[in-house]
Amino acid sequence: MFGSDEVMEQDKVEKFRVWFDDYVAGFYGDDEFVNANLKLKEEHSRRTCEEMLYLADELGLDENQRRIAEVTALFHDIGRFEQFVKYRTYSDVRSVDHCLLGLEILRKRKVLEPVDVSERELIEKAIEYHGRRELPGDLDGQCLLFSKLIRDADKVDVLYVVTDYYSQYRDNREEFKLELELPDEPRYSAEVVEGILRGRRIDYSELRTLNDLKLCQLGWVYDMNFAATLRWIRQRKLLEKLVGFLPETADIERVKEKIFAYVDCRIRREIG
Ligand SMILES: [Fe+2]
Repeated sequence: MFGSDEVMEQDKVEKFRVWFDDYVAGFYGDDEFVNANLKLKEEHSRRTCEEMLYLADELGLDENQRRIAEVTALFHDIGRFEQFVKYRTYSDVRSVDHCLLGLEILRKRKVLEPVDVSERELIEKAIEYHGRRELPGDLDGQCLLFSKLIRDADKVDVLYVVTDYYSQYRDNREEFKLELELPDEPRYSAEVVEGILRGRRIDYSELRTLNDLKLCQLGWVYDMNFAATLRWIRQRKLLEKLVGFLPETADIERVKEKIFAYVDCRIRREIG
């Protein structure tokens, strides 16, 4: 598609950005609900690139690694657009695995063909694994690095998005056009609270209400791979904002204390 060279130069990144814009533009139509949801993922993809570059700089990656990181971020959710237009949901359980769909799209359209095979593999693996509950245990080296990076960058932006999204929903329910995957009821599940207090990862299948989802998102701190990510989240007060959308109960207070103690401990451990 772009001619092939051995290393990932900056102009390839630029071309991938143009390809992304064109590809995504093709999905918009007359349905406002679909458009609003597409826009959410389009903007998420762009911001995830920014988050990726921020982390790449914090971790001192070199220029080439920085570019691989950016392209991974740009394409990590490329399957989301076809997924939403076809199934009108972002729930993989109710539709398809958007990571695998993304890879299929990139391969079918030969998008990553101009990238050196070993680098292409890094990008593809990181995309494939980004939505998994856990990374496979046998990854190492650069593959592990980029897989960890995209998972952190993705989660940082999702935390930013949901805090914005919950406040829009709270302030103006009638105008809210995005998909809510779970019922907005005042309750939350005791098992989810218990899980978070024990430092356990929460599986999406355990979630019953929107509050459970917010708790699960707080619990993402356990999954963050780099202290730099946690520092960044702390600096932007994303956890405080998220807690603000949960009911003020003793349980939630305990969750809050646990989460903040955990984050502060990991940040201190890295510095000290
Ligand atoms: Fe994704």
